[in-house]
Amino acid sequence: MTEKPTFYITTPIYYPSDKLHIGHAYTTVAADAMTRYKRQRGFDAYFLTGTDEHGLKIQQRAAEAGQEPLAFVDGIVDGIQKLWQLLDIDYSDFIRTTEKRHEQVVQRLFKQIYDQGDIYKSEYSGWYCTPCETFFTEHQLAEGHVCPDCGRPVQMAQEESYFFKMSKYADRWLEFIEANPDFIQPESRRNEMINFVKQGLEDLCVSRTTFDWGIKVPFDEKHVVYVWFDALVNYISALGVGSEDESKYQKYWPADVHLMAKDIIRFHAIIWPIILMAAGLPLPKKVVAHGWLLMQDGKMSKSKGNVVDPVVLAEKYGVDAIRFFLLREMAYGMDANYSEEALVNCINIDLANDYGNLLSRTTAMIEKFLGGVVAPGSEGTDFDAELLELAAQTPEAMAKYMDKVDVANAIGEVWKLVAKANKYIDDTAPWTLNKNGEVEKLKTVMYNLAEVLRQVTILISPVMPNVAAKVWQQLGLSAEAAGQDWTALGWGGFPAGTKICRGEALFPRIDWEAAQAAAAAENETTEPEAETAEALVEPVKPEISIEDFERIDLRVCQVIACEKVKKADKLLQLTVKVGAEERTVVSGIAKFYQPDELVGKQLVLVANLKPAKLRGIESRGMILAAGDGENLRVLQVPAEIGPGNVVR
Ligand code: ME8
Ligand code: MG
Repeated sequence: MTEKPTFYITTPIYYPSDKLHIGHAYTTVAADAMTRYKRQRGFDAYFLTGTDEHGLKIQQRAAEAGQEPLAFVDGIVDGIQKLWQLLDIDYSDFIRTTEKRHEQVVQRLFKQIYDQGDIYKSEYSGWYCTPCETFFTEHQLAEGHVCPDCGRPVQMAQEESYFFKMSKYADRWLEFIEANPDFIQPESRRNEMINFVKQGLEDLCVSRTTFDWGIKVPFDEKHVVYVWFDALVNYISALGVGSEDESKYQKYWPADVHLMAKDIIRFHAIIWPIILMAAGLPLPKKVVAHGWLLMQDGKMSKSKGNVVDPVVLAEKYGVDAIRFFLLREMAYGMDANYSEEALVNCINIDLANDYGNLLSRTTAMIEKFLGGVVAPGSEGTDFDAELLELAAQTPEAMAKYMDKVDVANAIGEVWKLVAKANKYIDDTAPWTLNKNGEVEKLKTVMYNLAEVLRQVTILISPVMPNVAAKVWQQLGLSAEAAGQDWTALGWGGFPAGTKICRGEALFPRIDWEAAQAAAAAENETTEPEAETAEALVEPVKPEISIEDFERIDLRVCQVIACEKVKKADKLLQLTVKVGAEERTVVSGIAKFYQPDELVGKQLVLVANLKPAKLRGIESRGMILAAGDGENLRVLQVPAEIGPGNVVR
């Protein structure tokens, strides 16, 4: 027997300091869908997730709760595992960094790297942000002398520390990236990481003495290992590297994909590979960073309190719908906006109207016209070839995207087939065939529709594992059919003579407006409405003609790189793509955006503005934004309108 090929995918291990929100769920749902997809394709797929349980922040939270750290996190970890269960996350293993199997590996690696001289003892001093557990140099601090990541105050701190010689490995890292251009995905992130390393790598402080909730440095017990050094090792400790039973490590390492959001790409794409290089271990094959799920007021995050609880949503709308929405909505490498209305729209359009309707129209007609029996007829229609051709191409088109972990586009390919099948109903007009007594054609049309539904359902089942079972039932297929893999995709696999079994709508339409009105009536507000819209807009500039306006060349541009302008608190330097052209634009928005938040975004550029020099940098154009000195947001253009398009 030949061994199956393996596929190893990981999510970050999450901090058990608070409840997880649907932003976290995005990563686990995506990794889960990838795992199920690989299994369908004959892989031995292994999926690891877990929790990152050490560090000062957790020690403090436990103390506030009057508990020992481990007891404090136990309850939260339990809740996280229940959440994954609810969302049908079928992980292979769940690693906790407080487990012995993990601590031993971290200690062994730390000692090995120390013994070979790549970890050394020194003195650290710098600005420390407690919530982020990170030291910053003076020039890294944000305006107001606060943490550049979370905006909270920092303290000057000194401590005896161990340092990891990252600097020694910078050249090897760059060579590795050059030889493995696909290692960091998407490409914009890769360029960002290369720029970061080219600016020079500093040695990394990898131990702390100011608190003790962590893994002890084995040869110097007043130190605990830095949380990121500790956490990253989970990807191999969970596989039992160096333990009595290394079989999983031998089998699955190196990982095929480390998946995460862009905020922690640096740790995975730079620090982790260098730890592995120093330890003499193979490097993972790919590090893939997705964007953030954003709320109207920015990134969904615990500290902002704008989180959406996945448990509540799943109860209201169903697990499969939530999974589908998350994966369909987050375009590759881009941020996605979350709103309940967007979720409802996705359910109503993609699920109820496209997929659900295809099933209910098909089963209703088979019942009404053909006594509920599916079997191909002896004659076809002019529309069959095109449908069959698309059905034959769809798996490969989907695979092309899935293999890049671009799940949104992969779903898009399947949905093209759903749309085609709906159009096929309109084109072939089965009701007319029925009326004219063209039974053979009618049978073929209905068979083709049932067969497309079978194919689509196999392809989409990694995303919606529960829906498949319902569809099989309605199509009259056996329970075993529910676990179908790709070998079942060949056209004609639908057993002729099957009796279908019509059921309820897969995804009932949701009346969003009625639900909103009901909710509003419930907490009736008596706020008076503004009299007229005009009355609120005071003119701030004199009137202009349409011709005046048309002299301004407004264009969609996409940010491909962004950095702070040195010694200028307010300025960001953006590299933007406008059609085929790239330009540099300096914008006074540094107070409102971290540079990497903007990368990938599509903004509006005043393209024919006379170039100006700002801090020695030539700025060609201006980015449009709305707001005031307190609060300001750039204007964004949806992804379907590409860079270079005119704004009017
Ligand atoms: O960073 N949108 O853990 P964490 C999309 N323990 N994804 C989001 C998100 C959002 N709004 N918010 C969180 C840590 N995520 C470390 C990781 S790994 C060795 C250690 C997801 O609990 C995303 O995958 O803060 C992000 O990378 C991860 O949660 C961070 O989770
Ligand atoms: Mg975080």
